[in-house]
Amino acid sequence: MKITIKKGNIADFNFEAVVTVLFEGNKKLEGASLILDKRCGGAINDLLAYGDFEGKLFQSALLYPKESIPSKRILLMGMGKKEDFDTEKLRGVFSKAAQKIRELRIDTFALSLDFDSPDISLEEKSKAVAEGILLGLYRFTPFKTIDKEKEVTIKECTIVENDPALIDIISPAVQVAEIISDAVYLARDLVSNPSNAMTPTILAEKAREVASQAGLEIEVLDRDKMKELGMNTLLGVARGSKEPPQCIILQYNGAGKNDKPVALIGKGITFDSGGISIKPSAKMEEMKSDMAGGAAVIATMKATANLKLPINVIGIIPATENLPGGNALKPGDILKSLSGQTVEVINTDAEGRLILADALTYAHRYEPAAIIDIATLTGACIIALGDNIIGMMGTDASLKNSLKDASEKTGEPVWELPLWHEYEELIQSDTADVKNVGDRAAGTITAALFLKKFAGDYPWCHLDIAGPALLAKERPYIPKGASGVGVRLFVQFLKERSRKTDEKNP
Ligand code: BES
Ligand code: ZN
Ligand code: ZN
Repeated sequence: MKITIKKGNIADFNFEAVVTVLFEGNKKLEGASLILDKRCGGAINDLLAYGDFEGKLFQSALLYPKESIPSKRILLMGMGKKEDFDTEKLRGVFSKAAQKIRELRIDTFALSLDFDSPDISLEEKSKAVAEGILLGLYRFTPFKTIDKEKEVTIKECTIVENDPALIDIISPAVQVAEIISDAVYLARDLVSNPSNAMTPTILAEKAREVASQAGLEIEVLDRDKMKELGMNTLLGVARGSKEPPQCIILQYNGAGKNDKPVALIGKGITFDSGGISIKPSAKMEEMKSDMAGGAAVIATMKATANLKLPINVIGIIPATENLPGGNALKPGDILKSLSGQTVEVINTDAEGRLILADALTYAHRYEPAAIIDIATLTGACIIALGDNIIGMMGTDASLKNSLKDASEKTGEPVWELPLWHEYEELIQSDTADVKNVGDRAAGTITAALFLKKFAGDYPWCHLDIAGPALLAKERPYIPKGASGVGVRLFVQFLKERSRKTDEKNP
């Protein structure tokens, strides 16, 4: 779908539908809603006066203006109370509006940004509206062969604005939203594909495509190269599968040579059966999403390059299946990691931390300014924080604060859990340097404490996205299924960080 901007008055053009908004409890109409109401002989005011529309958040009403304006329909959307309003609700309102339009089987619509939005700049407002529309319309359909022709795809959304000075603000903001939404779509697609269509080899192939389109450097380490380097915890997990493992490394150089990069590491388990410590079969199909961290990193690299952010970023995605083949890892096996530390594998289902261990060590060769890993790492994180919240643990307060700030802006909430050092004894092994699981207690924290042993002295932060990666229930602008969580958060974080370093070295 494309978003275009047109100069003029929304009441003057002929659209299939125009979307306009109202706050709850606002007796007086404002902005575009007031203009449309006047032209339609007070039709919107009547809805309010009769009590048929209150402006409650996500409430909607359709009006047929007849010949009073050239457009065929007016879709009225409720924004909730003005004092509760924020960009997250704005994304939701316009996502719901676009979804309603699609349900009406219309393929074009228009909107005006001429409505009050306290504390939200026009730039932020334009970006949130465009993101809400694009993200809310996502569908994953490549495997549907029946009734495809019945599907409606919205072709165009027109933002109407009369003031050229405002158009100059809206237009670039919409472009940014398009680049970011495109990246979120990529992450969602990578995760939505089943594991037979998204093997480590295919994931690496997709990363190559992204790299060539966006102008990123790419290197993919194969099994032989990993053997030579000694990435034995990653190779250990891969042993149970016939699919060859891949370690994907993407590099974006948007800043000077001497600028230390940020390293982003994403767990890329394209299917997690648990291995010999096999999972129960109920919901096992959801484990196609165990590469959601890797998908978020690939997508972030794409957006960062397309936005030309002045920053250096390395993306590392260790990718393999976790299967119980004849050569698979067995409980009790001991592996020598790339870092030299030995790991006793107590549970082969705690495979994410094994592949991340070697990826974290590999990141050190770039002498990164910070390392952030993102992974669908523990079921325990879902128990602790539920489906919507990212668990965060790390060694660097300023890094954690920056991620928290970014997450508040993008509506991808993070919550910090303590990296409680005393729990390190829970992962002490009798026969090796460390074991890969602790007790059931504090499973998310012991997983992070395990990773910390491989982060070295670099400022490091770990994000556990086991909950929000794959949604069982849709959210206002995130359809059910793969959410693409982390992409907007990382892009916001990198944008903010590049702005700060730019200020330091003008
Ligand atoms: N990929 C899973 C974690 C997971 C569970 C993600 C549910 C999304 C939804 C991970 O590899 C795993 O199996 N973790 C184990 C760790 C345990 C063996 C210590 C878990 O959480 O049960
Ligand atoms: Zn597992
Ligand atoms: Zn896993």
